[in-house]
Amino acid sequence: MGNILDGKAIAEKVRAEVRADVTSFVAEHGRAPGLTVVLVGEDPASVVYTRNKEKSAKECGIAGTLLRLPADTPEAEVLALVAKLNGDDAVDGILVQLPLPRHVREAEVLRAIDPDKDVDGFHALNAGRLATGQPALVPCTPTGCMRLIAESGVELAGARAVVVGRSNIVGKPMAQLLLAKHATVTIAHSRTRDLPAVCREADVLVAAVGRAEMVRGDWVKPGAVVIDVGINRDTNGKLVGDVAFAEARERASWITPVPGGVGPMTIACLLANTVAAARARTAARRGLRERPGQRGLHGGARR
Ligand code: GUN
Repeated sequence: MGNILDGKAIAEKVRAEVRADVTSFVAEHGRAPGLTVVLVGEDPASVVYTRNKEKSAKECGIAGTLLRLPADTPEAEVLALVAKLNGDDAVDGILVQLPLPRHVREAEVLRAIDPDKDVDGFHALNAGRLATGQPALVPCTPTGCMRLIAESGVELAGARAVVVGRSNIVGKPMAQLLLAKHATVTIAHSRTRDLPAVCREADVLVAAVGRAEMVRGDWVKPGAVVIDVGINRDTNGKLVGDVAFAEARERASWITPVPGGVGPMTIACLLANTVAAARARTAARRGLRERPGQRGLHGGARR
């Protein structure tokens, strides 16, 4: 029976690290790192998520601001707001909550965000930096998964890792992070032939497909570390992951629960990204050359 990777407890550790880092940033620079979250419209889940982001930022000493725009805000106005935040020196991190209303093009908005303030890590420049081993702002959910994997103590160098799911937000950056740690990485997806057999090869199995309990116990290699990114409702309305937890736990060495696994890590990593962005920006402004592996950033040399 596998051990539980307790995301709530590990996220609290990350938040404690962020609080300490914010304290030293304030002492060095006389201001707190700033995070501005932009929400366009009234999507109820997004309202909850963005409030949580603002509140968690403030709890860590970050200057968190939530800006809300009406659902019918023209795209040009959203872009104008992003441009204003790009030019605001007190803003280190900009997060535009997705999904956006249909008349606002997501790609245009994400492209408009200053890559050095892109604490979601969704800008193509950050995806490219990550893929080429340069210091980058990395999407928060895969960053959280890497921290959970690190806490399991598994050696990634030479290990077989399988990521099920190929989204830009989770699957692809997750694969890049595992590769940077010298794992042999497979990205599997809905068209993968014999998915159970592919998964059974994995020493580290990451499920990010958005299908309730799709990964069964007999897809898990005995002793594997299993990371479940999914948040789904089963037919009874119960919150479940992409992994059939009880079955998979029988074979895994470590496994994340849902809820209480990956979920709590995401916001904690957003806060860490905000402080990392603040440090990188102030270093750049002072004309210092950004060193790879600078605190908090995923630097090439450090991985
Ligand atoms: N919508 C759901 N998750 C996220 C996220 O991590 N970032 C943004 N910007 N929007 C989201």
